[in-house]
Amino acid sequence: MNTAATQTLDEFLQHCQQRVNHRLGEQLNTDISSRTLKEAMEYACLGGGKRIRPVLVYASALAVGAELSSADNTAAAVELIHSYSLVHDDLPAMDDDDLRRGKPSVHKAFDEATAILVGDALQSLAFQLLSADSSVISAQKRLDMVQILSRAAGATGMVGGQSLDFEAVGTNLTLSQLEQMHKLKTGALISCAVLLGGMSNDQLGDAQVTALSDYASYIGLAFQVQDDILDEISDTITLGKPQGSDRKQNKPTYVTLLGLDAAKELASELSNKAIHALDDFPERADQLRKLAAYVVSRPH
Ligand code: IPE
Ligand code: IPE
Ligand code: MG
Ligand code: MG
Ligand code: MG
Repeated sequence: MNTAATQTLDEFLQHCQQRVNHRLGEQLNTDISSRTLKEAMEYACLGGGKRIRPVLVYASALAVGAELSSADNTAAAVELIHSYSLVHDDLPAMDDDDLRRGKPSVHKAFDEATAILVGDALQSLAFQLLSADSSVISAQKRLDMVQILSRAAGATGMVGGQSLDFEAVGTNLTLSQLEQMHKLKTGALISCAVLLGGMSNDQLGDAQVTALSDYASYIGLAFQVQDDILDEISDTITLGKPQGSDRKQNKPTYVTLLGLDAAKELASELSNKAIHALDDFPERADQLRKLAAYVVSRPH
């Protein structure tokens, strides 16, 4: 078995963070004429962030018996989309948050125009990287992966969810509307990370694909439920972003709709369901199992 499969979760997180940071560093270390844009892209992507989406790409690749190296570009591409989404999410026209990953948000450290352009550029770079020539992934599979990531990132996924989020400010959503919003704004990209990692193996049977996709959808939602909980109960230093941002902006969340205790219960239920979904996977899926528990117990 690949040694990464038997690492503790902390070791595995560090190992994956190093891998993806290396690939991101290489990608950003390129000839960009605007010095400010280059600096701001590095500022947004390097030095901070849990890298949970890349870690999921790697853990999923591991669960299907693939080498982690086959997933480096995929892991970096998913993190580039995520980093872009955070830069735009913090803009004054959106959540208007001045702190991200323990540092001033990009529009504070630079300016708003730069923050918009950084997001645009990181998004393009994600697809440039995912579609790049690779000896380990066939051209057809790369095309399929581009399709999957673009659907998850765009109007049918994350961007669509962000739009629902803004329409929802100051309103009372039903539980099913809130679930739909969270599944899109956060769940779509997290699920996509798991599915793309699983594509490292061409021979997966339908049952395994279904199991991975069930796992993905449970932890995608669980991740945002925990984000809502942390916004309520944590503190700004621990989070590295302003605590209480949702309340300040009158956003409907799982905490406002269900109350804190029921939100915590739901998070733990979703995590258990994710772990169950992998019942027929061998031991090499253990990092995915541990990540399902981590997503709802993480302190930030
Ligand atoms: C924050 O994501 C935004 C959400 C979708 C909830 P993360 O909590 O993964 O943020 P970083 O990457 O660790 O900063
Ligand atoms: C953000 O949700 C989802 C994104 C697509 C970025 P939040 O607005 O709750 O994320 P944080 O709390 O600012 O990280
Ligand atoms: Mg937001
Ligand atoms: Mg926000
Ligand atoms: Mg939040």
